[in-house]
Amino acid sequence: MQYRSLGSSTLQLSVLSFGSWITFGTRLDQNGANECLACAFDHGINFFDSAEVYLGGEAERMLGRGIKALGWSRDSYCVSSKVLFGTGDNHSVMNSSRPTQQGLSRKHITEACHQALQRFGVDYLDFYLCHRPEAGMSIAEIAWTMNTLIQQGKVLYWGTSEWPAEDILRLMEFCHHNRLVPPQLEQPQYNLFHRERVEREYQPLLHEHGLGLTTWSPLASGVLAGRYDEGIAADSRLATEGFAWLEDFVFENKREQRIEAAKQLKTIANELGSTRAQLALAWVLKNEAVTSVLVGASSVAQLQENLGALEVIPRLEPAVLRLMDEIFQ
Ligand SMILES: NC(=O)c1ccc[n+]([C@@H]2O[C@H](COP(=O)([O-])OP(=O)(O)OC[C@H]3O[C@@H](n4cnc5c(N)ncnc54)[C@H](OP(=O)(O)O)[C@@H]3O)[C@@H](O)[C@H]2O)c1
Repeated sequence: MQYRSLGSSTLQLSVLSFGSWITFGTRLDQNGANECLACAFDHGINFFDSAEVYLGGEAERMLGRGIKALGWSRDSYCVSSKVLFGTGDNHSVMNSSRPTQQGLSRKHITEACHQALQRFGVDYLDFYLCHRPEAGMSIAEIAWTMNTLIQQGKVLYWGTSEWPAEDILRLMEFCHHNRLVPPQLEQPQYNLFHRERVEREYQPLLHEHGLGLTTWSPLASGVLAGRYDEGIAADSRLATEGFAWLEDFVFENKREQRIEAAKQLKTIANELGSTRAQLALAWVLKNEAVTSVLVGASSVAQLQENLGALEVIPRLEPAVLRLMDEIFQ
């Protein structure tokens, strides 16, 4: 495994990290999740991601149960939770039943932190993120609440996910003026189909403000691994009950172009002696601004394959990167 600093912090995170979105509780039962967690940890992965909304909080419970069963020492790994959507009435609905059970108010941020601690079975969260911005949100209220949770020892680092750069900058400036702990990380989508935010919008935040990045969906939910070359298989993520919306989200009305681009990736992967999944992951890892790439896997075999991406990074010569740029322009 390789490790990188979380932006301006010296905290060392594994460049590959493991997430629990959709897979935990659907494609992976507790035993399957535990096997993946053990495989990840044994290969040096030290960061495990979840959120209050993942399976209505059940993904966090499964992660917590797995960590407990595997007996990891608390100082050997990091966990994250994300707040905004609530836990929902059921695992597929991203709406909680009552207004106070969601959002970025002091009340919900605080309650959701306490609930995540309980679900994980830990005393503190390493990372606590505002899952998205909220219309009408108060930068001051969010910053003071996060600072309080940090002072109380319930959170170590806080941050955002998919926030516009200008809002993150407002947060940082507010924290600076009020001597509060500033956000340390952002969690954006970053893959061959989604580059704008990481490569352009966030640039000043990364270089001038030392923001760390833990990026998500490196394989575009499996499209870049060739999972949908021949349509949507019954055992694939896009066929998961309750996630019908994901198909439009993943393809964004460009299904044919995206499948075709993923197929072209196979030729390059073959020439480099890698798989498509490894190549797509290595491409993300090649960007040194990325602290850690969150991978999802619905089996140990997928996870093991993805761990092989580290060996592919040195094979990404400029000519290869240019070719990939042409395919995914
Ligand atoms: N902050 C946010 O808003 C946000 C949003 C999304 C995700 N995340 C985090 O980021 C993590 C990773 O995102 P993601 O799960 O979307 O990542 P991803 O790598 O783009 O997608 C993972 C899926 O791709 C397929 N896959 C993985 N490895 C494969 C391989 N070697 N060969 C073929 N198919 C493979 C599997 O699909 P099948 O199940 O079909 O086999 C797997 O479930 C999540 O678990 C979550 O923790 C955060």
